[in-house]
Amino acid sequence: MSAASDDLLAKVRVQGAVPRHVAIIMDGNGRWARERLLPRPIGHRQGMKAVREVVEASLEVGVEVLSLFAFSQENWQRPAGEVSALMSLLEEYIQKEADELDAQGVRVVFLGDLDRLGTPQRAAVDRVMAQTAANSKLVLNLFISYGSRAEITRAARLLAEEVAAGRMTPAQVDEAALAGKLFTADCPDPDLLIRTSGEMRISNFLLWQLAYTELHISPVFWPDFGRCELYGAILDFLNRDRRFGRVSA
Ligand code: FPP
Repeated sequence: MSAASDDLLAKVRVQGAVPRHVAIIMDGNGRWARERLLPRPIGHRQGMKAVREVVEASLEVGVEVLSLFAFSQENWQRPAGEVSALMSLLEEYIQKEADELDAQGVRVVFLGDLDRLGTPQRAAVDRVMAQTAANSKLVLNLFISYGSRAEITRAARLLAEEVAAGRMTPAQVDEAALAGKLFTADCPDPDLLIRTSGEMRISNFLLWQLAYTELHISPVFWPDFGRCELYGAILDFLNRDRRFGRVSA
């Protein structure tokens, strides 16, 4: 923690209600590394450190759910060496952080097509989810091998199966029923979506859940994103007028 981040945290606390659910598209690891003439996996490693700081900051400020987009379905198409570096990093992250996350009351949940993970990664993911399942201070959703269109398609298929089996009627297929079949069925929708590195895209992340989410685009590359940047994004959010399609009070 620094004097600057303490100051921002105090400002957030004065304003009161923090966003319950913050989602982040962590982008810019590769460019962070390129700027320093370093290999891309070093950028991802530095990105892992930023994950630690943002989890700590979320605990400090009282966010209930933190959703991080760590690896998309499309990311499987990156060069084999980079995919393997990211998968090793995932295992290392779980190895290093599981006990501390558990002690801090963080419930770690992995969401996505987890069947595509290799055996050691899948075992690590299952282990940390089981270890932290009873925690409730912060839910840390880590999206791995995830694509939002695939998630919505899967939800539609699950509902179709219910109807075909006679357990539901077509008229019962409503928004709540579909939301109940998404990976995020147990979470409130995100209040705030942050994307780092200045890119202004959603990139197939939480398309359904982001319907009324406030967007904050940060110019900072993910490895440089820390407490100050998170608190700054929350302060920006607190100054928004959320109308959910209605008029202001
Ligand atoms: C986007 O940067 C980032 C990723 C594809 C991977 C995110 C991974 C981490 C932050 C580290 C591991 C995290 C955990 C939870 C183990 P990019 O490579 O697309 O960057 P670029 O757009 O600058 O090339």
